[in-house]
Amino acid sequence: MHQLDVDQLPRHVAIIMDGNGRWAKKRFLNRIVGHEEGANSVRAVVRSCRELGIPYLTLYAFSKENWQRPPSEVDALWHLLKKFLISELPELLDKGIRVCHIGDLEGIPDDVVRELLKVIEQTKHLDRLVVNLAVNYGGRQEIERAARLFAEDVRSGRYSPEELSGELFSSYLFTRGTPDPDLIIRTSGEYRVSNFLLWQLAYAELYITDVLWPDFREEEFLAALRDYQKRERRFGTYYDDQTPTQRCAAGSQQ
Ligand code: IPE
Ligand code: IPE
Ligand code: MG
Repeated sequence: MHQLDVDQLPRHVAIIMDGNGRWAKKRFLNRIVGHEEGANSVRAVVRSCRELGIPYLTLYAFSKENWQRPPSEVDALWHLLKKFLISELPELLDKGIRVCHIGDLEGIPDDVVRELLKVIEQTKHLDRLVVNLAVNYGGRQEIERAARLFAEDVRSGRYSPEELSGELFSSYLFTRGTPDPDLIIRTSGEYRVSNFLLWQLAYAELYITDVLWPDFREEEFLAALRDYQKRERRFGTYYDDQTPTQRCAAGSQQ
C-alpha cells in the first residue's frame, strides 16, 4: 500500500525536527504555535514507527545551542515538552513504547526533569519501539563527556589507553546499546547537522526535505523511507552483485 519493502526498513531513524518557527511565521502566528503543531508531527511519526515495526527513533527536540533563544521561547518549549510527556504517557504504555533521554538533565527545569524521569521509569520495561528524546543534547558535548568518562576509567585502572576501540568508545555515549542511525531526516531544507549525533552518523543516509516540521506527517515519513530504500549503502566497500535494497539490509546489520 505504501510501496515500502517491510523487510528492508531502517532499524534506527533519527530526525532533526526543524522549521516550526518558519511554519508559524508564514501564517503570521507566534513561533510557539509552530512548536505546538510540531508536537502533533512527533505523535504521527512515533505512531508510524510503531506500526511499521521500526525499533529505534531518535528525535532532536532541544539542542545545547537552543539556550541562546529568547527566554520566553525557551520557557514555552519546556512547558510544551512537559505537557506532551503527560499527555502521551497512556498511549506509550498502551503501545509498548519505551522513552529514553539523550543529553544532559542538568540545566533542564526541575518540573520537566521530574516528568521526563517518570516517563522513562514507567516505560523502561517496554520494547516494541525505543524513542530517544535528544533534549539539552549536543553531539560534541556527548563526545567530550565520553572522553572524560573513559579518561576517568583509565585513571582508576579499569582500562589502559591502548584498549580504546570504536566499540568501547561508543559504550560511553548516551546512545550506548542503540544501533547507529541508518537514516537521518532533516526537515525545513537546511543542509547541516547542527551538532546532532556526530559520532553515530558516520554511515547514516541523509534525507533532507523542504517540508517544515509541523507539516511532516505520515505521508512525508513514508516518502523518506521510500527514498532510503532506493539508496546504495556501500560502507566504503564495493558490491558487484546486490540490489540496492540488499545493500540497505547489509547496512542495518552492521
Ligand atoms: C525546530 O524549529 C524546533 C527547535 C529547534 C526547538 P525551529 O524553532 O528551529 O524553527 P525555525 O528553524 O526557526 O523555522
Ligand atoms: C536543530 O535546529 C536543533 C533541533 C531541531 C532541536 P536549529 O534550528 O536549532 O538549528 P540551526 O540553528 O538552524 O542550525
Ligand atoms: Mg531551526
